[in-house]
Amino acid sequence: MVKICGIGAGYVGGPTMAVIALKCPSIEVAVVDISHSRISAWNSDQLPIYEPGLEEVVKECRGKNLLFSTDVEKHVSEAEIVFLSVNTPTKARGLGAGKAADLTYWESAARMIADVSQSNKIIVEKSTVPVRTAEAIEKILAHNSKGINYQILSNPEFLSEGTAIQDLLNPDRVLIGGKESPEGQKAIQALKDIYAQWVQEDKIITTNLWSAELSKLADNAFLAQRISSINAMSALCEATGAEVSQVSLALSKNTKIGSKFLNASVGFGGSCFQKDILNLVYICEGNGLSEVANYWKQVINVNDYQKNRFVKRVISSMFNTVSGKKIAVLGFAFKKDTSDTRKTPAIDVCKGLLGDEARLSIYDPRVTEDQIQRDLSTNNVEWDHPIHLHPLNPTMVKQVSIVRDAYEATKDAHGICILTEWDEFKTLDYQKIYDDMQKPAFIFDGRNILNVGKLREIGFIVYSIGKPLDSWLKPEGHAYSGVMDIIP
Ligand SMILES: NC(=O)c1ccc[n+]([C@@H]2O[C@H](COP(=O)([O-])OP(=O)(O)OC[C@H]3O[C@@H](n4cnc5c(N)ncnc54)[C@H](O)[C@@H]3O)[C@@H](O)[C@H]2O)c1
Repeated sequence: MVKICGIGAGYVGGPTMAVIALKCPSIEVAVVDISHSRISAWNSDQLPIYEPGLEEVVKECRGKNLLFSTDVEKHVSEAEIVFLSVNTPTKARGLGAGKAADLTYWESAARMIADVSQSNKIIVEKSTVPVRTAEAIEKILAHNSKGINYQILSNPEFLSEGTAIQDLLNPDRVLIGGKESPEGQKAIQALKDIYAQWVQEDKIITTNLWSAELSKLADNAFLAQRISSINAMSALCEATGAEVSQVSLALSKNTKIGSKFLNASVGFGGSCFQKDILNLVYICEGNGLSEVANYWKQVINVNDYQKNRFVKRVISSMFNTVSGKKIAVLGFAFKKDTSDTRKTPAIDVCKGLLGDEARLSIYDPRVTEDQIQRDLSTNNVEWDHPIHLHPLNPTMVKQVSIVRDAYEATKDAHGICILTEWDEFKTLDYQKIYDDMQKPAFIFDGRNILNVGKLREIGFIVYSIGKPLDSWLKPEGHAYSGVMDIIP
């Protein structure tokens, strides 16, 4: 049996390796991680991450050709192909802090591979890394090679959280970058053979290493740019009386633009968009391309602007203060169908409201109380790092309670903020919610999922991003005076 090993049992490593095991019964797949808690969760009925369909895939293969282990050295040494899916967060300190990718985890994994290997291996970069990282890993391996031959491939992962299993089973494309030498081409073919078990050949694209690495950064930058573009339009819609969903519809019918990623919202989140754009900006600066760097930086600036705008709208609508008021926060994950909260806009919005001394009652169907408390008490730069590397006892944030359902969160509240587009929020009994709230009752829909007309009929004062303003809500310029930005 061919043996492969995936280092890093996170949002990428876990689902990716599980799907390879499912589709390739003749391959033995070991997924390893330094985190004991993560591995024991993978071996239990409570998987460490939530993804629709993931549990079924893991249950089907675990104990057959899929195993999860903390014995990193053993499984790396036995494997012919090693996939690296460790985290590559933004550097928190030192040279390039706040922009460059932190390759600490990456480098230690590479050194460990060099230490334990006794046979030739193909090393597959799955993590998103700066362009030319393959060169760095090759240097580490070559200087410790003991005569072993390593081939490095770049095979960036394009899955989206929330639809990871579907994306992996039916990818738009698989990208494999490798060297043009005969050995490089042989390695590319070996990885191609794995994907070819379930992916059509014409969807498997092969390139050189640097194109593959850069394509992943470019892909995330383009997607985030679309969200910032429509969010920028949403501010203009509110100022002019246009409606952003109508503008989106008009754009989406242009086949040159298409319909995806055109929903205005409180902003994008997730572990990747911001860090990968910052990383791109850093690479551009390093190459003297300041105009290009500034162009991409603006995608993040608009995202911060959108989160700030939302918080200011909440505060200014509620008589310029939320001090002592109960605000129900519905949704904390960065998008629906995931338990992931990394870089979720909810963190910034909650911090902004807490800054004005609101009392928050937060409900999310999939995020634990412990996670929310950690997120609200952790510095921005550390959000990217895996939870098991955070301080053990986060300081509990006062004025925050995490509750078990939307009705408890909204009872006696002055206002509601919808921060994740979970389907269950669309079908709540808003009449009952209105009856149990303080009056005037406000709803701020940060995901544009609610029926504004119906809510206004019930009696709510409604703010929905990029839609014509309730007469209550003053024009932007006047309303925000005196309210500081929450994200510098
Ligand atoms: N999350 C996504 O949607 C997504 C999509 C595509 C690509 N990516 C990229 O994939 C990479 C991983 O992302 P993720 O979301 O899975 O991160 P994650 O934090 O969920 O998982 C990474 C795991 O690697 C483990 N790890 C770190 N160093 C290790 C070592 N030396 N040996 C063994 N295990 C080690 C950590 O303990 C952690 O469990 C990142 O580069 C990310 O940018 C993420």
